[in-house]
Amino acid sequence: MDLKINTKRLLICELSQEDAPDLAEAANDPQIGLFVGKMPFPFTLRDAQTLIHKSGEKRRKKPRTDYDLGIILKKEKKLIGCFSLFRVDHESRKAGIGFWIHTKYRGQGYASEAKAALLAYGFTSLKLNKIYGTCASVNAESIKLFRRFGFRKVGVFREDRIKTLPALGIKNKKYDILSWELLKKDFLSKH
Ligand SMILES: CC(C)(COP(=O)(O)OP(=O)(O)OC[C@H]1O[C@@H](n2cnc3c(N)ncnc32)[C@H](O)[C@@H]1OP(=O)(O)O)[C@@H](O)C(=O)NCCC(=O)NCCS
Repeated sequence: MDLKINTKRLLICELSQEDAPDLAEAANDPQIGLFVGKMPFPFTLRDAQTLIHKSGEKRRKKPRTDYDLGIILKKEKKLIGCFSLFRVDHESRKAGIGFWIHTKYRGQGYASEAKAALLAYGFTSLKLNKIYGTCASVNAESIKLFRRFGFRKVGVFREDRIKTLPALGIKNKKYDILSWELLKKDFLSKH
């Protein structure tokens, strides 16, 4: 079943090919290329179409283990970011979370609004017991977002990500990666 979550300002929903132009615009950002897993920079319309196609294939897997979701700003009817719940492990009831927001729409609480809704969905509808995530140790905004929701820092993977982004003149740059986790009981005690 297609997922749709309504929040005050946002609609969190499955990606469709109609979102490709907005996705290409929003994701074509050096910060996203640097800090989000395998996102390339520059990020083209073709990259957006491929990402949406792959997320559709993953959606059909049973039981479903990956949710790549678009964040739509309702007042502009525009996709302004993506969140994902990935590697859903139905036996150990845990999943990873990843996220990014269009640079023009940062600092307005949209990422927090989406994250609150997706954590609630994960812990209640998907009955997860743990949601975990990672970020580069230099990614202050992401660290803030993990802390805001009570994620506990559980480790540092030294020089765990090596990035080469020729468009930014970056070659073999090593990043330490922080590991975060949030248990259902800790989330529910605060929300
Ligand atoms: C990480 C990322 C998603 C955070 O986005 P963000 O816009 O900074 O996060 P929020 O939406 O929670 O906004 C928080 C800020 O908005 C402010 N804000 C304004 N209106 C708000 C509202 N209605 N509700 C909550 N916060 C609001 C907050 O005070 C906060 O400001 P502060 O950072 O000065 O304390 C974003 O920086 C990003 O996409 N980065 C690049 C990709 C990336 O690094 N992804 C994570 C990989 S691990």
